[in-house]
Amino acid sequence: MKRLVSIFIILALVPGCRQSGNPDGEAINVIPQPSHIQRDEGHFTITKRTVVYAGGEEILRTVGFLNDRLSSVSGFTLKTSDVDFTRNEGIFFLDAGLPSEAYALHVEPSRIVIEYGDGAGAFYGLQTLFQLMDTDIFASSRQSRKTWDVPCCSIEDSPRFSYRGMHLDCCLHFFDMDFLKRYIDLMALHKVNRFHWHLTEDQGWRLEIKKYPLLTEKGQWRKETVIGSLSSGIYDGKPYGGYYTQEQVRELVAYAAERYVTIIPEIEMPGHALAAISCYPSLSCGLEEHYETATRWGVFRQVYCPKEETFAFLEDVLDEVMELFPSKLIHIGGDECPKTSWKQCAHCRSLIKKLGLRDEFELQSWFIRRIEKYVNSKGREIIGWDEILQGGLAPNAKVMSWLGEEGGIKAAKQHHYAVMAPYPKYYLDYWQGDPDSEPLAMGGPTMLRTMYEYDPVPDSLTPEEQRYIMGVEGCVWTEYMPTPQRVEYMAWPRMCAIAESGWTTAEKDWDGFTRRLEAHFARLDRLGVGACRNFFSPYIEFHKDTAYDKVVTITADLPDAEIRYTLDGSVPGPDSALYEIPFVINRSQTVSAALFRDGKIAGEVKTKSFN
Ligand code: ACM
Ligand code: ZN
Repeated sequence: MKRLVSIFIILALVPGCRQSGNPDGEAINVIPQPSHIQRDEGHFTITKRTVVYAGGEEILRTVGFLNDRLSSVSGFTLKTSDVDFTRNEGIFFLDAGLPSEAYALHVEPSRIVIEYGDGAGAFYGLQTLFQLMDTDIFASSRQSRKTWDVPCCSIEDSPRFSYRGMHLDCCLHFFDMDFLKRYIDLMALHKVNRFHWHLTEDQGWRLEIKKYPLLTEKGQWRKETVIGSLSSGIYDGKPYGGYYTQEQVRELVAYAAERYVTIIPEIEMPGHALAAISCYPSLSCGLEEHYETATRWGVFRQVYCPKEETFAFLEDVLDEVMELFPSKLIHIGGDECPKTSWKQCAHCRSLIKKLGLRDEFELQSWFIRRIEKYVNSKGREIIGWDEILQGGLAPNAKVMSWLGEEGGIKAAKQHHYAVMAPYPKYYLDYWQGDPDSEPLAMGGPTMLRTMYEYDPVPDSLTPEEQRYIMGVEGCVWTEYMPTPQRVEYMAWPRMCAIAESGWTTAEKDWDGFTRRLEAHFARLDRLGVGACRNFFSPYIEFHKDTAYDKVVTITADLPDAEIRYTLDGSVPGPDSALYEIPFVINRSQTVSAALFRDGKIAGEVKTKSFN
């Protein structure tokens, strides 16, 4: 393979299209932004006669993804040949010994060369190639187009972090296999490589465990679900359930692996255990007469009691989990475990005394350490939410920092690896616009820009400590996301911002991101992703002033857009007042605003009234 690489280096030096600049006036809009891009003159054109030169089962599988797309939109597939030293035209996948996940993509008029060092690198090279092609390539049906121009360029790319995650809570609401596959496809397109699958909760147990069939027979169900916000007190009266069979899990793990996504299962302990306890009440401290799967969102005092029976149960569950999921990391939850029951429980109190622990926080730490020891004994590692820091971190544990970034900082200072998933900045269940006009959400708002500009590596860490920040994750808690459509609406496009923070080693650049995102929206549209489109509309905010007035600010993410507004309830047009600086309104006025480019409206009119 080395010999082949040198041939291509020589070929690359032959004068061809490799001039700098952007002669065709086309921008390259890739998300996440590659480390280095040089735009050259000309195009390579993919036709049905183009040959792909690639070798090895794994790389051919990736070529299969290209053929799948071409087949569904153009009705042809490309002939694949083993790498051939005598050929100089076509698409070449070459092992150039690059680091894991890195790739280089060279597009010249006569050939495309994707260099890689492993299967992930080749796969990511292809994901970038897709984003250089017309957005039709993402369509779900046959297009009239028969040839595909790819702009000449030279891209070198490798990730900033090894862990680039996206979480999905399938407990508060349940999502079927088709949706999970689509979720993983979208992650892979954005070079996101960890799917954190939240499988157990107070509101439902979603994973088949052969040894404890009741967990899904009974534990998948809640008798009803709260309507509106978690404290509305109004319920729908409809049983709600759903779970994944082990066969489905195996299928999804394999599906994800082909797309270089590792699935990290989360089995919550010692808190968020009510669904399991409702099936097996003896796993609790036994203080209540009745245990029932939760019907609203929140934190519940009914947690696992740290007794031998509980550890035997959890070890059995983890045995099946580790059998199903090859991931080195197993997420054991650890968050939001109230100590109420442990304080009242005779067993817990005597255990604290016997072990010489100071309090219930140290008991939680002891619990997690014991589980860690078990997981480590099987050659795996644990990751848990911030609260596993309480009472001392288990020796090899990794921390997922959600209570802001403090947990991640604390972990890194102790030389433990951390993933930054801070609430509210990386919580995709928070509003992404004006709560007055957005669907019900958990809190916020956390705007796209806030998400984009968050730097996951805190300045307060030394360079040595910063190495322990191993990545980022966007959290999708589904309290208020009962449908796949709502999940996509909340996750996209904000997840593009997190994906870019996780991947790019280039300087973060909000303006550049918004330009690329506008082009990227066309891809999301082609894929049928129901992304939130607030990007194309203004964001109106009222700021406190006196009892009789408000100061109004209007902002826009869409590049080069004019903000135009009215105060009399009429629909703004291209000649309405141009927003330049904040202004004051009184109670009789309503702000209506929209974005305009070349006199044409982009997106929706947004309206906000001072009541
Ligand atoms: C969490 O949001 N409870 C991790
Ligand atoms: Zn107890």
